[in-house]
Amino acid sequence: MRVALSYSGGLDTTVSIKWLQEKYDAEVITVTVDVGQPEDFEEVEKRAYGAGAVKHYLIDGKTRFADEFVSKAIRANALYQGEYPVSTALARYLIAEEVARVAKAERCDAVAHGCTGKGNDQLRFDATLAVLVPEMRVIAPVREWDMSRDEEMDYARSKGLRLDLGKSQFSIDENLWGRSLEAGDLEDPWNEPPWEALKFVRPPTEWRDGEELVIEFDGGIPVAIDGEKMKLDVMIQHLNFRAGRHGVGLIDHIEDRVIGLKSREVYEAPAATLLIRTHRDLEKLVLSRRALAFKKHVEDEWSWLVYAGLWYDPLREALDAFIDETQRYVTGEVRVRLEKGALLVRGRRSPYSAYSEELITYSAASRFDQRAGEAFSRIWSLESQIFSRARREVRSGR
Ligand code: ARG
Repeated sequence: MRVALSYSGGLDTTVSIKWLQEKYDAEVITVTVDVGQPEDFEEVEKRAYGAGAVKHYLIDGKTRFADEFVSKAIRANALYQGEYPVSTALARYLIAEEVARVAKAERCDAVAHGCTGKGNDQLRFDATLAVLVPEMRVIAPVREWDMSRDEEMDYARSKGLRLDLGKSQFSIDENLWGRSLEAGDLEDPWNEPPWEALKFVRPPTEWRDGEELVIEFDGGIPVAIDGEKMKLDVMIQHLNFRAGRHGVGLIDHIEDRVIGLKSREVYEAPAATLLIRTHRDLEKLVLSRRALAFKKHVEDEWSWLVYAGLWYDPLREALDAFIDETQRYVTGEVRVRLEKGALLVRGRRSPYSAYSEELITYSAASRFDQRAGEAFSRIWSLESQIFSRARREVRSGR
């Protein structure tokens, strides 16, 4: 059997190489996708071959991740349960797609991933693989082998596997759009996330003087900072450090996993926090009240689909079509201040702005005919008037 394995270089997937060889007598081809994780990819390759991989692929997915996945998430203001920018979730679809591509090219019989049986990631991988390579078997060693982390380490040692496990007690998943931390002391939701475990979001002792920046959007996509055009993946990397050093972008919340478990999640996502906040602000200037209210439902549904492994549900594309239509007008600039842990929107402007100073102004020169307000206002509460009269009549016995 020939298997393409999604390979991160961590303990689970390194042990998986050996285990697939032993249990399935498999030839294992490893596929590592760079979605912006800070990894020594040469070391990852050595580790894969050291564990017995017959071939290793390293695929740079950063640009595609930003342009085809994150850009949609920005336009959708995607935040699962109002908080999590679905960063880990989004990247899984791209990684699984690349694994499927390699599996086809290499004429594999099966594909494999390192997800556990109680998380959300298995749903994203399994769905993508079932859609893209339905003819191939999907193997998830961690779901099958039933080893604890200590047992895995013993297994790795007994097989002489090359491992360089970080000292971190946390399970960390990082890509351009966010850095997720789980496990260790964080499993007690009362414990606060230790500053030492954070990479982008800096503690108050390191906060600098505040600063202001202007984010420019074109069709709902951020394209420049302070007038300087930037590719999206570059901009995100820049903003993770720039907003993070003011203490912006830490998300600590209780999340409902798809399978029904509550999970304590800590995310660092300074760029996502800043870009979604400014994007949403600009939308308020250029979209109608009803479009905004309706889009909120679309956003929640979009975020849920992405979170829940349902990227390939036709509804996601239909929602994207709605979002695309709204984004034609989301062009303009948002001025934002970063200071002492706060992110404050300070101004916005757009050629499509529906804000009418002439009409809204308090000054005498307003073109608004206030006399028209009288009839409007009387009829606006018509239902309330009718209901309250009808009920008053019943109460008074008439
Ligand atoms: N709860 C998040 C999700 O399901 C993130 C999971 C992050 N994984 C990790 N090993 N820290 O998308």
